[in-house]
Amino acid sequence: MKMIELENITKEYGNRTILSGLTGTFYPGRLYAVTGRSGAGKSTFLNIIGLLDHRFSGSLRFFGRETSVMGDRERSRIRGRKIGFLFQYFNLIEELSMAENIMLPWFYGGRRDEQEARGRLRELCEKLELGDLLQRKAGSLSGGEQQRAALARALLMEPAVILADEPTGSLDRRNAETVMGCLKAQAAEDRLVIVVTHDASVLRYADEIRDLRDGCLP
Ligand SMILES: Nc1ncnc2c1ncn2[C@@H]1O[C@H](COP(=O)(O)OP(=O)(O)O)[C@@H](O)[C@H]1O
Ligand SMILES: [Mg+2]
Repeated sequence: MKMIELENITKEYGNRTILSGLTGTFYPGRLYAVTGRSGAGKSTFLNIIGLLDHRFSGSLRFFGRETSVMGDRERSRIRGRKIGFLFQYFNLIEELSMAENIMLPWFYGGRRDEQEARGRLRELCEKLELGDLLQRKAGSLSGGEQQRAALARALLMEPAVILADEPTGSLDRRNAETVMGCLKAQAAEDRLVIVVTHDASVLRYADEIRDLRDGCLP
């Protein structure tokens, strides 16, 4: 099954072309590493397939459905249910506890069964070695702890697609291995994982490596 299909995606900022005719297909059960130098357009690419940015030309199909015909509501519904997005700088809400941060997507998604959410929270935090930190304010956590919490938040809804923007960029080796090991396990559960990175140590986790250059994915 083709999960994400891109055809001739072009993205411009002002008169600068960042992506020029990018085409590619991504399948579930695989971890893709998309590499490229700084400024190559990796974040731009990820924001487009994460349905965060719809100002581009070309075709993006998500589960076979053309996204350009979607309205904001449908896009954000798909984002909430199908996509887990891991941001480079975590994007946690500092004043909330770690547990509250991780459970936010659940309540945003309109789900009320808090027992189920707490069960998943416990399981994820065990896997990511976060169990002791649940009540701590996110702002008081180290970078590695914040990234693992952000990963738990991205995975809480059990999304079919997981997108990670330089997830190891600010982590030490041990945290980087925990995060990448967890992403690899997601792919093994038949999810699609795309990691954009310029960190070479990520590559050994990848089933496929695509190099983003000149605005294309050859
Ligand atoms: N909002 C924006 N407005 C104008 N230019 C932007 C904007 N966002 C990114 N860019 C430019 O687009 C290019 C690609 O950026 P980005 O996708 O962040 O690259 P990467 O993630 O590979 O480092 C860069 O030259 C960057 O300066
Ligand atoms: Mg980037």
